[in-house]
Amino acid sequence: MGLERRQFLGAAIALAAAAASDSAFGHVLDRSKPLGGMPFALPSLPYPYDSLEACIDAQTVELHHDKHHAAYVNNLNEAAKAVPQIASQPMELILANLMELPEEFRSIVRNNMGGHANHTMYWDVLGGKGGTPQGDVLSAIDRDLGGIEKLRADFDAAGMRVFGSGWVFVTVTRDGKLALESRPNQDSPLMDGKRVLFGNDVWEHAYYLRYQNRRTDYLHAWWSVVNWSRISDRYEAARAGTLTI
Ligand SMILES: [Fe+2]
Repeated sequence: MGLERRQFLGAAIALAAAAASDSAFGHVLDRSKPLGGMPFALPSLPYPYDSLEACIDAQTVELHHDKHHAAYVNNLNEAAKAVPQIASQPMELILANLMELPEEFRSIVRNNMGGHANHTMYWDVLGGKGGTPQGDVLSAIDRDLGGIEKLRADFDAAGMRVFGSGWVFVTVTRDGKLALESRPNQDSPLMDGKRVLFGNDVWEHAYYLRYQNRRTDYLHAWWSVVNWSRISDRYEAARAGTLTI
């Protein structure tokens, strides 16, 4: 990327910061200049490591959160030293506008911010006891995805079709419409400006200790630890326009 482009980016960010500081709140935290510490943080696991035993063993959960997810966060903090603008806006905005970043940093941000966002969502939608959804989210599943049994079958089949590492998602629009999508690596529908209702990680690190090559068994068992209450909250947030990652 040329100097002009960099200057443009810098000017755009300065403008955004100026606009933010004029907000009704009077003071807006500038996340590009954290007061000590790093701009990105590993969110605490919202339940004990053994909470997902019905599907995932405690050691896998611990390694997945404390090592794999942490590595994406650490890499992102390293990247932020070179491209501080990645910490100046919400992640969903950065991910939807990766082409605005200097070309040499796009891949590292795509992989590591994608990984951070995907895993934050993953922990958020787990920790429940499965069962069936209720209310508006169930109505949307019936309307758009053919009902819960068809969703489970189609979602698991999509997870099996991911070649190598990736994710399977249900996306949600502001109108509450749902769709099934998958992505390779740490890509996310957020990169297309969409919102994720929930998603499952089909990287081997998510299941290998218990399931080895049996990804299909992991996919089937995963529904037993889904937190439909949180997913319902995410659905309402999507319709209110407040769902982020
Ligand atoms: Fe993962």
